[in-house]
Amino acid sequence: MIPSMSEVKEFLKKLGFDESSANELIEQIEYFEGEAPQRDDIVRDYLREECIETIVDDIVEEILKLNKENIKLLDIAAGSGFFTERVKRKLEERRVKVDVYALDITPSMLKRLKERKITPIWGVAEKIKESIKIANEYYNINVPEKFDAVISTLALHHFLKPEKVLESMKDVLKESGKVIIVDVLKHEHEEFKETLKDTHLGFTLEEVKEMGSKIFKEVKANYMDVYCEVGDIIVGLYKAVFA
Ligand SMILES: C[S@@+](CC[C@H](N)C(=O)[O-])C[C@H]1O[C@@H](n2cnc3c(N)ncnc32)[C@H](O)[C@@H]1O
Repeated sequence: MIPSMSEVKEFLKKLGFDESSANELIEQIEYFEGEAPQRDDIVRDYLREECIETIVDDIVEEILKLNKENIKLLDIAAGSGFFTERVKRKLEERRVKVDVYALDITPSMLKRLKERKITPIWGVAEKIKESIKIANEYYNINVPEKFDAVISTLALHHFLKPEKVLESMKDVLKESGKVIIVDVLKHEHEEFKETLKDTHLGFTLEEVKEMGSKIFKEVKANYMDVYCEVGDIIVGLYKAVFA
């Protein structure tokens, strides 16, 4: 279930990416291949323990509002599964039976997910449905087509086409389901494009709402009571919920 780089290139072709888009994605993968072994420590470094807990609690509370005993959950650009695992554990503590799947484009991140016993799916966030189809056919697995909750943490600002990612999330969301996104608010630190491979310098709440309202009927975006520390730079976080 963990592709080699040549399989990744083959999948990107199957997904219809032209050479220049595929190369942009490969650049992201190469960066995150380097980050994968330290991803958990990087998250702990960016966020204090109470911030991590707040993020997990906020996501879990949103999922509990669905009022379901069984949840199919998909984490998009899940990375090492740091948050995926904590969200799963907390839902189970709240007596929700949860089937968890995690999609990421970087093979070494998928390895970490597998070690955490979370089903890894190689895929591109802009084409979730198509990526799941490829994974199911190629690895003879049975990942569902639709989910009750689609979550994503600290990733929206990395995507080349965030609006496309939201559309792609909608494609795999059940009628009654919801998308929950936690990510960084707009900031002015251009250097993060170089040092952290950020594509966008975060988003304002207005930008997030505008993007969401083109795709979803219900759109909420709020400041969170947590922040991210990158060295001595402090960046705020938001939570967006789309249904
Ligand atoms: C900053 S990390 C966030 C990881 C995790 N969600 C967390 O909170 O620790 C961004 C992740 O996005 C993945 N990624 C970047 N572009 C992607 C894309 N187009 N499709 C799927 N995954 C992508 C990277 O491989 C990386 O694991």
